Amino acid sequence: MTEMLFKAMRSPQERAQLYSLFQDAVLHCERCGLCRTRKNVVVGEGSLTNRIMFVGEGPGEVEDDTGRPFVGPAGQLLTRILEAAGFKREEVYITNIVKCRPPGNRVPEIEEVLRCQGWLEAQIALLRPQIIVALGNTPLKWFLHSTGGITKMRGRWFTWRGISLMPMFHPSYLLRNESREKGGPKDLTWRDIQEIRARYMSLQGKNDGTTV
Ligand code: URA
Ligand code: URA
Repeated sequence: MTEMLFKAMRSPQERAQLYSLFQDAVLHCERCGLCRTRKNVVVGEGSLTNRIMFVGEGPGEVEDDTGRPFVGPAGQLLTRILEAAGFKREEVYITNIVKCRPPGNRVPEIEEVLRCQGWLEAQIALLRPQIIVALGNTPLKWFLHSTGGITKMRGRWFTWRGISLMPMFHPSYLLRNESREKGGPKDLTWRDIQEIRARYMSLQGKNDGTTV
């Protein structure tokens, strides 16, 4: 039903209006206990029309302080990776599995993920991405129910509900593993983002550039 509603509302103006309603709803969310410790809900940001979505785990401290996804140290690295591959940060949409910070940056609990996941489902229905990039193990598990782990799964295209999905290392993992050797995490991530960029470019042509 919601999916049909979203699909019926396709103009950029309608999508932006609907997105704004969606955002208000998430900003008032009290579906799980994280609402008691958060400072800000981090809904996501970026292009509503370019149909490429990067999904992380959950907000960290700087994200909780600012209400914006991926703006702390890991986020700054993600932004540099995007830009090195030719993306502007605002050209893509960036969000997380959970929209509120797990205290101390712990991995979100299964109950928190289950209570939150309807927001991500709505986001995907609204933005209709052609490409989803799953950053690290938490989104990898959510999308693909994978027990394989990010090291095995990254760098390959999967199809999730008809959408091209690639798992990629989480930038915070790259911050902990600085090695630049060939075949190391940074080298592999550089290959992955270029592959993602190539697929994105091959899908271009019908987008209209609305950002939030
Ligand atoms: N790590 C994440 O997974 N998401 C953010 O928004 C920031 C850091
Ligand atoms: N663990 C994660 O969650 N993500 C990575 O990218 C690597 C290890």
